[in-house]
Amino acid sequence: MSVLTSPASSPSLWRTFAQRFQVGAAVGGRSPDSLGSGERELCVRHFDVLTPENCMKPGPVHPERGRPDFSASDALVEFAERHGQGVVGHCLSWHQQCPDWLWPAGIDRQSALAQLSEHIHAVAGHYRGRLQGWDVVNEAVADDGEFLRATPALRAIGPDHVLRAFELAREADPNAELYYNDYNIEQPAKRQRTLRLLRELLAAGARVDGVGIQGHWILDQVPFGDIRAAIAEYRALGLKVMITELDVDVVDRPDCGADISVQRAYAPAADLYRDGLPDAVAARQAEQYAELFRIFGEPGAVSRVTFWGLHDGMSWLNTWPGKRTNHPLLFDRACRPKAAFAAVLDSIASPVRR
Ligand code: XIL
Repeated sequence: MSVLTSPASSPSLWRTFAQRFQVGAAVGGRSPDSLGSGERELCVRHFDVLTPENCMKPGPVHPERGRPDFSASDALVEFAERHGQGVVGHCLSWHQQCPDWLWPAGIDRQSALAQLSEHIHAVAGHYRGRLQGWDVVNEAVADDGEFLRATPALRAIGPDHVLRAFELAREADPNAELYYNDYNIEQPAKRQRTLRLLRELLAAGARVDGVGIQGHWILDQVPFGDIRAAIAEYRALGLKVMITELDVDVVDRPDCGADISVQRAYAPAADLYRDGLPDAVAARQAEQYAELFRIFGEPGAVSRVTFWGLHDGMSWLNTWPGKRTNHPLLFDRACRPKAAFAAVLDSIASPVRR
């Protein structure tokens, strides 16, 4: 039976790529246990590592100082453990989805460091020994001009806020891998700034295990050459490289990287694919996904490829940067594999079967 029509009998993504890299998905909502049965099956069959889409971020997990709320994140970790999946924590320090108490205006450096330590020890300490890794710092590099992004952490602590977060994460969970994660860091200028940050961290003795290229790309604008070059340059620092939030947006969006503070109103007429993705567009998306996976599949290139969502209906790109109907992933709203799924499988000459 065709892989295009049968979700249950389609080859498993993670098994197919097992000898090259892990294949993961971000899972949102309260708990994977509350997913529909088709979604749950898809989650377990195709992905061997999960990233919580929101529930481990500083705001959701630690809304009040000293009173973390692990209800959603515990449920996700328990689900993953029951199904033999790994978990990547996302994320310990970020300027978005951040509780008010963590970086209040006017806080001095010592107090800010103490609070960052409290936060990281509370959350990474809670999961000590259970996660395969943490996105320790998310999006600390500036989009243009400056070196580091002007965030509350930079203001309160200074440029070493990134280094301090890595040191604290290492203390809190010595066995978790520690990653720096960001968007557009395959592109030359931001890549140079990110390489500088990573070199400085390594020179300062930080343990950094890997770098996550988010991978929120746009159909017909996927920067294949930059992706290939970026993987090689990050690998040359001795780091693992991961694609951590992959999607291929089929509805054009302004050039805003993946900055979640950008909002845009889409006119109803711009909601082009409300009634479904035309075959011709699905075919272009499939070819571009296949090209991505040919790059990822090169020996030693990446250690993990994580999709930002399980299927098109669950993608954040239906609401960011504005409301529209998107189709950015490998599975459609009914959890059926799309043309892109088959193309991704075909990108590897001889799938590994276990
Ligand atoms: C997004 C989630 O998918 C949304 O549900 C939420 O409303 C905003 O954040 N880069 C990141 C992710 O590192 O954490 C973001 O996730 C998408 C951009």
